[in-house]
Amino acid sequence: MILGIETSCDDTCAAVVDDDGRILSNVISSQGIHDAYGGVVPELAARAHVERCDLVVADALRTAGIVLDDVDRIAVTQGPGLVGALLVGLQTAKALAVVRGIPLVPVDHLEGHVLACTLAPLSFDPPFVALVASGGHTFLARVDDDGRIQELGGTLDDAAGEAVDKGARLLGLPYPGGPALERLAGDGDPTAFAFPTAKGVKGLDLSFAGLKTSLLYRIRDMGEAEAERHRADLAASYLHAVVETLAIRVERALEATGTDRLAVGGGVAANGPLRERLRALPASVAIPERALCTDNAAMIAAVALRRPALAAGDVPGLEAYGTGQRPPAPVA
Ligand code: KG4
Ligand code: ZN
Repeated sequence: MILGIETSCDDTCAAVVDDDGRILSNVISSQGIHDAYGGVVPELAARAHVERCDLVVADALRTAGIVLDDVDRIAVTQGPGLVGALLVGLQTAKALAVVRGIPLVPVDHLEGHVLACTLAPLSFDPPFVALVASGGHTFLARVDDDGRIQELGGTLDDAAGEAVDKGARLLGLPYPGGPALERLAGDGDPTAFAFPTAKGVKGLDLSFAGLKTSLLYRIRDMGEAEAERHRADLAASYLHAVVETLAIRVERALEATGTDRLAVGGGVAANGPLRERLRALPASVAIPERALCTDNAAMIAAVALRRPALAAGDVPGLEAYGTGQRPPAPVA
């Protein structure tokens, strides 16, 4: 039985997953305190994690119908993310591990998004090509039989989720923009406006900066009243361009690697049009249910099924690593 803990951004998450990858509980406490600021405030996120983390862990154990003594391993997000936020989950996990003598597995958040599809009922095991499109990261990777990840290409500027959130903001929608943009787009025509899909970017890298600028200029050129009238069409066309930018690279990646297995993860994979577009590809495509695409601790536990635990002596010194940083080398 694995207890997963995830606090890399603004969701306080704990989950229990059994050794066959079945989810016994998956508790996600969304902080909902950042909306007024138009983005996550790191200090506030860390404080809210402090208030909630123990309660969320207790809730995950209770919902799963187990107690700490039943936990064989604890999996915790080590990075990347907001360091102050990460430290809350990490300290909680370290304290439980040391006091109760439970082995601890430090997990990379992005590997969590990649391997979310290995959980039941999908149980979609590597090898496959993976697309991760989240708020902080967007990349394509080849994942081998052991779940080892080799990046094939990534975004040269914004992550897909950032593009979604910035576009939503330009259209006057609240943070986080994804779900609101999807709802507004539902009333619009995705072919009403042509937005760029960075087709010119060769290979498997992606770019979203031009798309965002293009929406900004389009709204400015139309004028406020006209843009307001076409809001749903703008949302649908913009979202369509985000989906195409991702789908074009996925098609290239499947072709370049000669693979016909695709796994998709990250918050943007909760998007209906993207799910539909990728599911229609001539490949075996696994996209987890929406709650496993956005941040959660079950996916962190999923990684721990394939990774060794730390030696007990290394647990107290375990450090978090921030966005854009690599895991620190183990202390010799
Ligand atoms: O993976 P995630 O929950 O957190 C990070 O690790 O970043 O991804 C969050 C991102 C946000 O940018 C959010 O707007 C986007 O995922 N998102 C969506 C949808 N739901 C969440 N984007 C498009 N459509 C959605 N339904
Ligand atoms: Zn994430």
